[in-house]
Amino acid sequence: MTPLISSAADALAGTIHVPGDKSISHRALLLGALSTGQTRIEGLLEGEDVLAMAAALRMMGVTISRTGDGVWTVNGRGIAGLGEPDGILDMGNSGTAARLLMGVLAGHPFPATLTGDASLNSRPMGRVTEPLSAMGVVFNARSGDRLPLTMTGSADLLPLDYRLPVASAQVKSAILLAGLASPGVTRVVEPTPTRDHTERMLQAFGAELTVEPDSDGGRSISLQGQPELTATDVVVPADISSAAFPLVAALLVEGSDITVENVGINPERIGLLDALDAMGADIRLENKHQVAGEPVADIRAVHGPLKGADIDPGRAAAMIDEYPILAIAAAFATGTTTMKGLGELRHKESDRLSAMARGLKAAGVEVEEGDDYMIVQGDGTPPVGGAAIKTGLDHRIAMAFLVLGMASNAPVSIDDAAPIETSFPDFTNLMNRIGTKIGPVT
Ligand code: S3P
Repeated sequence: MTPLISSAADALAGTIHVPGDKSISHRALLLGALSTGQTRIEGLLEGEDVLAMAAALRMMGVTISRTGDGVWTVNGRGIAGLGEPDGILDMGNSGTAARLLMGVLAGHPFPATLTGDASLNSRPMGRVTEPLSAMGVVFNARSGDRLPLTMTGSADLLPLDYRLPVASAQVKSAILLAGLASPGVTRVVEPTPTRDHTERMLQAFGAELTVEPDSDGGRSISLQGQPELTATDVVVPADISSAAFPLVAALLVEGSDITVENVGINPERIGLLDALDAMGADIRLENKHQVAGEPVADIRAVHGPLKGADIDPGRAAAMIDEYPILAIAAAFATGTTTMKGLGELRHKESDRLSAMARGLKAAGVEVEEGDDYMIVQGDGTPPVGGAAIKTGLDHRIAMAFLVLGMASNAPVSIDDAAPIETSFPDFTNLMNRIGTKIGPVT
C-alpha cells in the first residue's frame, strides 16, 4: 500500500503531456500481433494494464520490443497465429486486456486460462463469454462468469449477428476481434455508440469493416471475416481519460491555467468536455488535427466558477471513465448536478458509484446515490475535505480524490496510490510539477 495525501495547491500552470491512450494502446498491440509484418507504435501507454497485455501476447509467441520511450514494435503472427501459452495469462487490473484478448483467443483452438487481481476477478465476464460461446468457444469460468476462467477457442468459429445488451466498447471489440477469425460477416449492433477505436484501427490495418447508423441512434458494424491484416504504424494520442485529472484540477484551483498537449478527442470520448461546458467551465480546444485516424487537440483549462447541470445520460458512454472526476467538479459547482444512466459504473475497477458517493460524503459534500444515478449538491465554495479514501484497487478513484484535496479546505488522503500505475505512471510527479501538493502521509 502506498498512501498519499493531497493538500491545497497554489495556482496550477504549465503545458504538459500525459501518457498515451489506454484503449488505443491495447488495440495497437493486439492488431499488431494479428497482422503480417512489423507494426511500430509511438506513444504507447507504458502503464501496468498495457504491459499486462504485452506480456500475455509474448507468452503466446509474439515478439514485442521496446525500442525507445513509448516506442514499441510488434512482429505480427497473422490472424489466429498465436501459440498456446505455457502458463496462466495474468491480466492484472485490466478489464479491457482480459475482454479483448478473450475475443482474440476465440479463434485459437487451444486452452488458455486468464486471471487477474482481486478487482478484475470480481468483474462480470458473462457479457463476453455469452456471445463468444454462441460463436463456438467453450468456457469454464468461476461462478457468476468471473475470472479465473479457461477458454478453448475454435478453428471453425461461427460468424455472429449480435445486438449488445449493454453499452460496452469492450464487448463490441471482443466480438469484432473474434469475427476476424471466422468466415463470413460478423455484425454487432450497438444501441448507443461507444468508443470506436477498434473499428478505426481495423480499417487502418486493412480489414473490410462498415459502420451504418441504426434507426434509433445506434450503430451497426459489419466485419468481413478472415481478412489479411497488414502491419501499420500507430501514433497513440494522449489519453483524455488521464488528461481529465489535471484539466479538472486546473478548473478548481484558483488562478490556474494549464494546457495538455496532443490529447485524443474522439467524439465518443469527449462527453466530459461537453459536461464541463454545460457547467460553464473555461475549456478551450486548440491546434485540432488528425493523427493516424484519430482526432487530437491541445486542451487548455482555466480556473473559473462552475454551475450545476443536468448531465445528458445519452452521452454516458462517451464519458464513462470520467464520472469520478466529474463528480469532484460537481462538488465545487453552485447548484445541483444530476448524473443519470450510470449503472455500468458499478462494474468498473470498483463500484465507482458507491465509491464516489461514500468519499464525497466523507468530505462533507451533499450527495444522493441511486441504483444508477448520482446527484451532487454544491454551493460554489470548496468542500470541507479531510476525508481518508479507500481506493479499492481503482486508479480513477485514487486520482479523483487527490484532485479533491487540491482545492478543498482540508487535505484528502488515499490509502493506496499503487493502482494509478495501471493508467497514469508518474501522475504524482507530473501534477506536482504544475503546482499540486501531493506527498507521502507522514
Ligand atoms: C474501454 C471501454 C470501457 C471503459 C474502459 C476502456 C475500452 O469499458 O470503461 O476503461 O478500451 O474498450 P466498457 O466496455 O466496459 O464500457
